Amino acid sequence: MMEKIIKIFDTTLRDGEQSPGCSMNLKEKIEMAQQLERMNVDIIEAGFAAASPGDLHSIQEVSKSVRSCTVASLARAHRGDIDKAWESLKYAVHPRIHVFIATSPLHMEYKLKMTEEEVVKATGEMVAYAKSKCEDIEFSAEDATRSNIDFIVRVFDTAIKAGATTINIPDTVGYTTPDEYYSFITAIIEKCPALKTVDISVHCHNDLGLGVANSIAAIKAGASQIECTVNGIGERAGNAALEEIVMALKVRKDILNADTKIDTKQIFRTSRLLSRITGIKVQPNKAVVGDNAFSHESGIHQHGVLNNRETYEIMTPESIGLDTNKLVLGKHSGRHAFNEKLIHLGYDDLSQEELDEVFKKFKELADKKKDVYDKDIDALVLKQKMDVPQ
Ligand code: KIV
Ligand code: ZN
Repeated sequence: MMEKIIKIFDTTLRDGEQSPGCSMNLKEKIEMAQQLERMNVDIIEAGFAAASPGDLHSIQEVSKSVRSCTVASLARAHRGDIDKAWESLKYAVHPRIHVFIATSPLHMEYKLKMTEEEVVKATGEMVAYAKSKCEDIEFSAEDATRSNIDFIVRVFDTAIKAGATTINIPDTVGYTTPDEYYSFITAIIEKCPALKTVDISVHCHNDLGLGVANSIAAIKAGASQIECTVNGIGERAGNAALEEIVMALKVRKDILNADTKIDTKQIFRTSRLLSRITGIKVQPNKAVVGDNAFSHESGIHQHGVLNNRETYEIMTPESIGLDTNKLVLGKHSGRHAFNEKLIHLGYDDLSQEELDEVFKKFKELADKKKDVYDKDIDALVLKQKMDVPQ
């Protein structure tokens, strides 16, 4: 059977940015978007234009800064939101309007204060309105996994008839489990044949730590697009982590029969860049990008790895772009090695003046300390950034 290529829809700049402590300024968003493009994500969700004029402007600037990725802009099922989303996408080479409305009884009663009939009507009208502006339309049924299946099928049918090209089935509150999600999506596809004509997307939150497992189950059920964030940042416990999904598909291609277009060698750098921008460190034992993901502490493990890495490593550090040539810097290291190390650690935006200053401090440190490790360099750069007014 031909391997299926799954689209990666990155929402680090929208859902990720919504998490406490993760807001980014314009320059940082552009830097992040360019790195996402370098990593080869298919779609970048750049923000929620109706949230603020600043958000709308940053979507415009992100749109100008990337060429090959589709840029998505989120909108509630309101004319005003859709107008702003379209305005935010005016410079995008490949624009996508992403319209959403909640479909669970809880959200319809307590948040939207709308009946089922009203939600179906708003879906049809607002997807058609968005379609009158843009060819590429994604529709999301917020809180899908706590919605009535027959109702959600009606909503999806309506959205597809009105022009949606991608249908998203989000697990908004991270409530479902892999088996349940698999059955839910399979049943929706059976009841809604029109889904075969569009991309089926999933968007899993991580409240029970099941975001990645649920996304993988969804791929088995027929999803062709996964929504995720770098380092798994996002509302509450976060979103499914991009790097974990991508590497799970790569490492278990034998049973999952699916892959992505992601350049996995950019994963480590992207993760570090986001941490540096947000100041939020990745937990050391985090899968794929944590500091300990490729370290071996116990004697038995070290012995095994020295004989054959595969004894305790299911993927190579090189495959995620981790520098394993152990380029530990010391007092004999020159500018070239130092600059390479900075780029590798995600510090590619330093001015010449900052570079000179950090290099000087590095030499001073190397005189006192035999080996200078990555964390020492992190500390030097962060100190430099704090000393220089932005
Ligand atoms: O979690 C969610 O349901 C969302 C939608 C807007 C897709 O973020
Ligand atoms: Zn979300």
